[in-house]
Amino acid sequence: MTFWHNRWKTQQIGWHRAAYNDLLTKHWDSIGAPDGGEILVPLCGKSLDMLWLADRGYSVSGLEMVEEAIEAFVSENRLDVKSERTGDHIKHSSHPFTVHQGDFFELPEGTVLADAWYDRAAMIAVPIESRTAYVDQIRKLTKPDAVGLLITFAYPQEEMDGPPFALHDDHVMALFSDGFDVESLEHLDLGDEKDRGLSSVTSTVFRISRRSD
Ligand SMILES: C[S@@+](CC[C@H](N)C(=O)[O-])C[C@H]1O[C@@H](n2cnc3c(N)ncnc32)[C@H](O)[C@@H]1O
Repeated sequence: MTFWHNRWKTQQIGWHRAAYNDLLTKHWDSIGAPDGGEILVPLCGKSLDMLWLADRGYSVSGLEMVEEAIEAFVSENRLDVKSERTGDHIKHSSHPFTVHQGDFFELPEGTVLADAWYDRAAMIAVPIESRTAYVDQIRKLTKPDAVGLLITFAYPQEEMDGPPFALHDDHVMALFSDGFDVESLEHLDLGDEKDRGLSSVTSTVFRISRRSD
C-alpha cells in the first residue's frame, strides 16, 4: 500500500478543506481560462474546488490514484457516475466531472487535453525528483496555449520531511522555463503554519501559461 493509500484508508487527510480555496476564488479570473473550457485538476483528492470550477461553467477533469478519495468525492456530492476502464486507468464520469483513477504520471498523452489546470497541494505532494516528470505530464495533458494557477508551499526543506515538499519560487521558474511563461500573482507569509516547527513558511500563487510556439 502506498503512502497515499494509507493516508486515505486511515483518513489522515489534513490537507482537505471543507471550503473553497480563497486563493482560487481570488485569482482564477485573472488567469484567463476560456469560458466553458476543460480544467485539469492533477492529484485532486476530493477537493471542493472542483465544484467551484464546475459552478463557473467549466468541465473538470480530476486525476487521483486512490479509490477511497474518488468514492468520497462521488458520494459526498451525490454524483451518479459511469465508470469505464481505459488501460491502467478507470474513468469515472458524471457531467461536468470526469475523474481518472490511476497514477498521474502514467496517464497517456491526450487522455485529457485541457484548456487550463489548477494545482493546489498537487505539485508539492510530488517527490522533488519527480517534478520534471510532473511538468512533462502537464504539457502532455493540456492544449498548447493552456493556462494554469499554481499555489505553492515553501519552507526550509531540512526542517521537515515531506509531503508537502517545499517548492520555492526559483524552482518553479526553473521547472517551467521550457515553453511556459510564469508570473507571480501573490506572495504570502504563512506565519500560522510555524507551529509545525518551521522557521519560515510562504506560499506563492503563480499564473503559468504555455507558449503556443
Ligand atoms: C495533498 S493531497 C491534495 C488533494 C487536493 N489537491 C486538495 O487540494 O485537496 C494529494 C493527493 O494526490 C493523490 N496522489 C498522490 N500521488 C498521486 C499520483 N502519482 N497520481 C494520482 N494521484 C496521486 C493522493 O492520493 C492525494 O489525494
